[in-house]
Amino acid sequence: MPIHSKTIGILGGGQLAQMLALKAKQMGLTTFVLSENAHDPAATVATTWMQGSLKSPENIQALAAQVDCLTFESEFIPAQLLKKSLQKLRTKRIEPNLNILAKMQDRLFQKEWLYDYGLPTLDYVKINSKDDLELAFKAFDGQMVCKERFGGYDGYGTYVITNKIDLISFKKAFKGEENQFIAERFVSFKSERSIIFARNTLGEMIHLPMVQSVQINHQCDYVMGPSIHPKEKKLIAKINQFLNAINYVGVIAFELFEIGPKLVINEVAPRVHNTGHFSQEALNIDQFELHLRCILGLKLPPVSLRQPAFVMVNLLGQSTRNPSIKTMPTGAMHWYDKDENRPRRKMGHINYIGKNKKALLKKALLERKGILL
Ligand SMILES: Nc1ncnc2c1ncn2[C@@H]1O[C@H](COP(=O)(O)OP(=O)(O)OP(=O)(O)O)[C@@H](O)[C@H]1O
Ligand SMILES: [Mg+2]
Repeated sequence: MPIHSKTIGILGGGQLAQMLALKAKQMGLTTFVLSENAHDPAATVATTWMQGSLKSPENIQALAAQVDCLTFESEFIPAQLLKKSLQKLRTKRIEPNLNILAKMQDRLFQKEWLYDYGLPTLDYVKINSKDDLELAFKAFDGQMVCKERFGGYDGYGTYVITNKIDLISFKKAFKGEENQFIAERFVSFKSERSIIFARNTLGEMIHLPMVQSVQINHQCDYVMGPSIHPKEKKLIAKINQFLNAINYVGVIAFELFEIGPKLVINEVAPRVHNTGHFSQEALNIDQFELHLRCILGLKLPPVSLRQPAFVMVNLLGQSTRNPSIKTMPTGAMHWYDKDENRPRRKMGHINYIGKNKKALLKKALLERKGILL
């Protein structure tokens, strides 16, 4: 029998939705998941799975009708379509709310927002034409990154342009108004980091320990922490101010670059995040429970580490073979149970906790080789 009389609707059926639904179950909550395929990771673990499209107003309405509160696992569901779909159901809450989603899913608005609130981020320019590209290339001294305004993830939609040949081929493929970009300087950072916040409907807010994340081909490979930084206190205070000002509800991830002595925000994701998976084993409470507690207005406990150090390694597809376990890792493995293996596809992750980051990382990278992907 559910202990909470609340029902959560999750838009999307990937691994983030799966881990939200699993945690919801452990908390005694009821979940409805809307996704396309019966073998989606979240479909089999939800209390009820509803087949449908996140682009269909009817399907969204059918989901909303069943639940107390809606949430999503990806910031790329079109906010305007959701707004229209939910117009007749005004009393239904969706968290984070749709005005916030609309701003954050567009990299241009997101950047403008960060600037408005005095949060440090890289300078950017809007790219609408081939001329804009030329100007940006000059302004950034021939070292730039173009990012699609909508829909980029795992480096899809991100183009590094560091010489004339890159620029010429990018210009050739550029279709103007059809694909809109922002451009920023290509920076050589010391490290990439991330920090995750959780804020509930009561206005309580906590954050997880800052972590270092390592990307290969623009995709997260592993995370380790805690990784404290001399500038983090100041940044945390500013992010607190920002989240209070916009009345944010839910978990939110800030991806950071460490550039010289500074910490600057690369991008923001208004949802649970790959760089927060360590929390499942490393903390007294994980990001999935925090997100659910936030949207339901439940109190947030202080966050504490179970061990001094942690490492999370992603299990990324490398082929289309059936994955297999050659040697069982000693870390805690989380398998997403996807129907197919594919190169670069996120298939699972493994969490390690212990005394020493370096030793954990060595063990984690070695043991990962025992999972054949
Ligand atoms: N301005 C930059 N200078 C140097 N490297 C960059 C820059 N912007 C992005 N990158 C690299 O590309 C990666 C992906 O970029 P970004 O996070 O903006 O896009 P994304 O596709 O949303 O990624 P993800 O979904 O994995 O977070 C970053 O983690 C970083 O390694
Ligand atoms: Mg990113």
